[in-house]
Amino acid sequence: MSVSITPLTEHTGAEVHGVDLRKPLDDATHEALNQAFVDRHVLVIRDQEFTPEDFKTAAQVFGMLQPHDKKARHLPGYPDVYFVSNDEFVNGRRIIPGETFHTDHSNHPAPPKATTLFAVQLPSRGGDTQYVNMHRAYEELPDQTKQRIDHLKAVHVYISKYSPRPLGAIDEDSVRALPPPGVHPIVHTHRDNGRKALFLNPVRMESIVGMPDQEALALIDQLMQHATQERYEYRHQWRTGDMVIWDNRSVMHQANPDYDMAERRFLYRLMLKGAPLV
Ligand code: SIN
Repeated sequence: MSVSITPLTEHTGAEVHGVDLRKPLDDATHEALNQAFVDRHVLVIRDQEFTPEDFKTAAQVFGMLQPHDKKARHLPGYPDVYFVSNDEFVNGRRIIPGETFHTDHSNHPAPPKATTLFAVQLPSRGGDTQYVNMHRAYEELPDQTKQRIDHLKAVHVYISKYSPRPLGAIDEDSVRALPPPGVHPIVHTHRDNGRKALFLNPVRMESIVGMPDQEALALIDQLMQHATQERYEYRHQWRTGDMVIWDNRSVMHQANPDYDMAERRFLYRLMLKGAPLV
């Protein structure tokens, strides 16, 4: 079987055909996929047929599994395989996981390097996932803004008092197991591709070290408006059997609640361990 890896936009995303990640890979394919992940930030691996165990095998082509914070939310019988769906309600409000731009689990001192979803059931239309390239967004900032933010650090907690949206339910055991807040540079240098990138997450950013909150919120808002422009985006339209893996150090992402909520959107989800950002 020959593997093809084709860019999806000029800056972000590649589509992978001709690989079955249930099966062992030869070294060249393993390396090519990992290099594409680092260079293209989002890989769309088509036509996979996974059980939950197969999905774990596939994810581990790219690294080591990192447990999710919400321990109680997992596939029945698979405590380490999380899922996203559109059928959770908290206080009468439907929760759409990932409904605003964010990066995953940035409340961890060593945030996950990657997240992957496997599409099991999809609405007949809509429900795309948008990704924005945080390298490109940083590179195109005015020099003056770069100088202002280059050495700033932000405190990321489980849920910021300024979060634009609620998160799904978390049980008490999971709360007790949460790590201390992550304190991350707003501009970091990616360990594997050497490029600088913005690292932002309004859901979890509680403060910028040494800055009054109102000033910090205005700065985060300004950076978010810049980073989420369409020119930095790859927008993924899901097909059943897609495995999409993205680099949380390089992109932010958001889910779209623009579909008929009577239809089910259900995807398996795993994350991969990362290292502290530098
Ligand atoms: C997420 O934020 O991980 C979920 C994204 C999606 O469901 O499209």
